[in-house]
Amino acid sequence: MTIPSVQDDDLLSELRALLAGEPDPIANAANTAALVFNRLPRLNWVGFYFLQGDTLVLGPFQGQPACTRIALGRGVCGTAAKRNETILVPDVHEFPGHIVCDSASLSEIVVPLNIGGRLHGVLDIDSPEHNRFSESDQALIEAVASLYAEACAVSN
Ligand code: SME
Repeated sequence: MTIPSVQDDDLLSELRALLAGEPDPIANAANTAALVFNRLPRLNWVGFYFLQGDTLVLGPFQGQPACTRIALGRGVCGTAAKRNETILVPDVHEFPGHIVCDSASLSEIVVPLNIGGRLHGVLDIDSPEHNRFSESDQALIEAVASLYAEACAVSN
């Protein structure tokens, strides 16, 4: 089991406060992306893709403009969504089918979002450093995704 650090607890407390009483998925995605992007170091992109049929469609994000549609099963995002599991990519150039949105991205983590037992989309985070995300970062980002999903479940 990975024990979150004190700094991680701060981020989660701040997120809990930001999401409190707000069920809107877009508003919450916008604030979640902004908080993570501004609190965690060495990131160049943080954003949401929402599932519409068999396609992930770009939602609120921070960073450079990104591709708007990703088919289920394509790239890191589409693969994480199809498997409904987190994918941690230490070197994006080693991931077959990785979709380049910002050539500065060198490592990436994608966490699926499940709301009310249904796949709702993914949270995607990119770094300009190789091997940026540790197992404890994965635990933190999964906790972020869970808080987001719990807040939005109220309106589901
Ligand atoms: N690299 C992702 C595409 C989304 S961008 O990184 C913002 C992928 O392979 O799915």
